[in-house]
Amino acid sequence: MTVYDLAILRGDGIGGEVTDQALKAIDAAGNRFGFQTRQTDYALGANHYLATGVVIDDDIIAELGRHQAIVFGAMGDPRVAPGVLERGLILRLRSAFRQAVNLRPVRLYPGVPTPIRDLTPERCDMVVIRENMEGMYVSGGSTLYAGTKNAVALQESINTAPTITNVVDYAFRLATHRRNRLTLCHKKNVLVHAGELWQSIVDEVGANYPDVTVDYVHADAMCQHMPMNPERFDVIVTDNLFGDIISDLGAMIQGGLGVAASGNLNIDGSAPSMFEPVHGSAPDIAGRGWANPAAAVLSAALCLASLGEGQAALALEAAAASVLAELPALAGAEMGASTDELGDRMAQRITDTALATDGAQG
Ligand code: NAD
Ligand code: IPM
Ligand code: MN
Repeated sequence: MTVYDLAILRGDGIGGEVTDQALKAIDAAGNRFGFQTRQTDYALGANHYLATGVVIDDDIIAELGRHQAIVFGAMGDPRVAPGVLERGLILRLRSAFRQAVNLRPVRLYPGVPTPIRDLTPERCDMVVIRENMEGMYVSGGSTLYAGTKNAVALQESINTAPTITNVVDYAFRLATHRRNRLTLCHKKNVLVHAGELWQSIVDEVGANYPDVTVDYVHADAMCQHMPMNPERFDVIVTDNLFGDIISDLGAMIQGGLGVAASGNLNIDGSAPSMFEPVHGSAPDIAGRGWANPAAAVLSAALCLASLGEGQAALALEAAAASVLAELPALAGAEMGASTDELGDRMAQRITDTALATDGAQG
């Protein structure tokens, strides 16, 4: 039997609560589809940092790199200065494992309440492909005259042709498996150097994909078009910061952060990919059982798909979607069931569907 070697980083706040549900779903799918996982826990995050003063050791990074995939919850804690865990852990792992693509599906599942009036699932099925290692997210920058009235903060954006080319090529390839549409989202009317580089690479790579229709939307205009005309979009390719922003917008369109999944993909096979909900550690609801586990379960589905377990991935997605469809609300006490109960329900649905299918075949 195939055994997949997974590193598990539950992290902070609701990170652990939702990751537990993702693991239940993976286990249920393993039983149904005939694979196993070896799960190694890494207790990283705020508590580890506060106890040791170290965010992550180099040898732990090396160890994580030897797993086939990383299942990640969320990092961030009010007791720790902003950026310490986010940069020191999340961004460090994305770079260390050359996870150049951040894949973030935006799909409205049937029966899920969306704040967009009259939006139907048929009109909302797109994927944001976010460059994941560069742009404004590179480390560096400095503050001159810090602490004075004349302070000047320098924050640079680095955009390299090789990385952008890989990301754009991935986005085109994905579009050919979908509806053959690709939209570049940038702000090339202002960020002329980076914008021109992105556009020229889209033009050049696009020549290899003649069946894909290409267009361009400025990032600010995207915030209008995405909610109002989601059917216009199939694959959106964009830089790191714009991708961060528009994927939270996408999350709202599809019902909230509790539904939005992501995969940080190493596309050259040189290191593991990492799967995490788009949401953070949500300190405002941590410990209450109010977090929706769907985003984590849908991220686990992306993980299984990347490992080649396509049927299992579809089963996780179907289970999450069917439980979502019966919730009176998508977050908090109003969900009518706890995080744990919803995770049990999703896992049970993966198992029950197998029984029903076997019964039908028998
Ligand atoms: P957040 O995503 O944690 O929470 C934003 C809002 O959405 C909160 O009101 C929260 O209760 C709600 N929410 C989030 N996930 C939910 C879920 N599964 N079910 C129901 N409601 C949910 O963003 P934030 O409050 O800006 O950040 C909190 C911390 O998380 C910060 O330290 C931030 O840096 C960090 N963060 C980490 C990640 C990550 O680990 N990938 C992502 C985003 C933010
Ligand atoms: C996300 C998060 C991260 C990001 C932070 C926490 C580093 O917001 O995964 O979207 O900005 O990429
Ligand atoms: Mn974000």
